[in-house]
Amino acid sequence: MIFDRNEQKAVVALLGAGSMGTAIVRRIAAGKKILLGDISEKALERVGDDFRRSGYDVETMVVNALQKDSVEAFARKAAELGPVMYFIDTAGASPNQASPEHIVNLDMVGTGYAVDAFGEVMAQGGAGLIISSQAAYMYPIPNDIELKLVNTATEDLKDVKFIQEVAMKDSGLAYMIAKRMNHLQAQRAAATTWRKRRARINTISPGVIVTPLAYDEFRASGEGYQAMIDASAAQRTGTSDEIAEVAAFLLGEHAKFITGTDLLVDGGVIASIRTGEFKLWRED
Ligand SMILES: NC(=O)c1ccc[n+]([C@@H]2O[C@H](COP(=O)([O-])OP(=O)(O)OC[C@H]3O[C@@H](n4cnc5c(N)ncnc54)[C@H](O)[C@@H]3O)[C@@H](O)[C@H]2O)c1
Repeated sequence: MIFDRNEQKAVVALLGAGSMGTAIVRRIAAGKKILLGDISEKALERVGDDFRRSGYDVETMVVNALQKDSVEAFARKAAELGPVMYFIDTAGASPNQASPEHIVNLDMVGTGYAVDAFGEVMAQGGAGLIISSQAAYMYPIPNDIELKLVNTATEDLKDVKFIQEVAMKDSGLAYMIAKRMNHLQAQRAAATTWRKRRARINTISPGVIVTPLAYDEFRASGEGYQAMIDASAAQRTGTSDEIAEVAAFLLGEHAKFITGTDLLVDGGVIASIRTGEFKLWRED
C-alpha cells in the first residue's frame, strides 16, 4: 500500500535518534521526509520501525557524529532526499556516561561538524536546532575566551588552551563548556554559513528531562539532581514532549525572526542558581 504519493517533500534530518530527538521529529514531521542518523543500528531499526508504523515517511542511516566524514555524508544524503528544511542535533553524552575527552569530542567537536556540514546543504527558509543543556549556564566562560572559541574552526577547537587545561580535566566541566560552546556554534553559524543560505539556527537548553540518558545521571548523582529539582520553581523534572513543544516553535513559522539564540527550558533551575537560592557548588 502506498501511504503517501507526494514527492520532493521537505526533509527533516535528525542526528541522534534518542528520546528528545524522536519526540521533536514526531511533533513536526507529518507529511515530510524524515532522515534519522544515529551510531546505533539497533536504535535506528527500532525507532525507524516505530515511525513507519505511525504513518511517517522515514529513512535511516548509521552516522558517527565523532567523524567529520560520516557527518558530511549524512548531510549529503539529506540533501539528496529533497530540500533540507529542518536539522536537529541531539547526539550527545552526559557527564556520568563518558570521559572528558569523549564529551569534548562528541558534544562540542561533533556538534561543530554537524553545524558546518548542514551549513552547506540547508534550504532557504530552513531551520536548525541543537540540543544544548542548562549546564551551559553553570560555568561562565570569560568573554575573551568565548571570543576566541567562537572564532576557532571546528577542527582546532580541541587545541585551544582553555579546552585542554579546563574542559579536559573533568567530565562535568567538559559538559558545561561543550554545551555553552553549542550556543556559540549556533551564533557563529547564524551569522555566517547558515545566514548565507538564509536558514536559521538556534539552541534549546533543557533542564532535567527524564530520558534513559537522565536515568544514568540520576543513578550516578541522584542526590544533586534531587536538590536541584526541589529548589526549582517547577518542583519537577521535565519531559521530552515539553522540549518538543518548544522545538516546534523555534523550528516553525512563528519564530522566523529568531536565529542565533538559546532558549532555556529548565523549570527555573538556573534562576535559582543565579539568585543564590540554590548553591550548585558546596562551599567547603
Ligand atoms: N535528558 C536530559 O536530562 C538532558 C538535559 C539537558 C540536555 N540533554 C542533552 O540532550 C541531548 C539528547 O539527550 P537524550 O536524553 O534524548 O539522550 P538519548 O541518549 O536518548 O539520545 C542521544 C542519542 O545520541 C546517540 N549517539 C550517541 N553517540 C553518538 C555518535 N557518536 N554518533 C551518532 N549518534 C550518537 C545515541 O545513540 C542516542 O540515540 C543530549 O545532547 C543531552 O546532552 C539531556
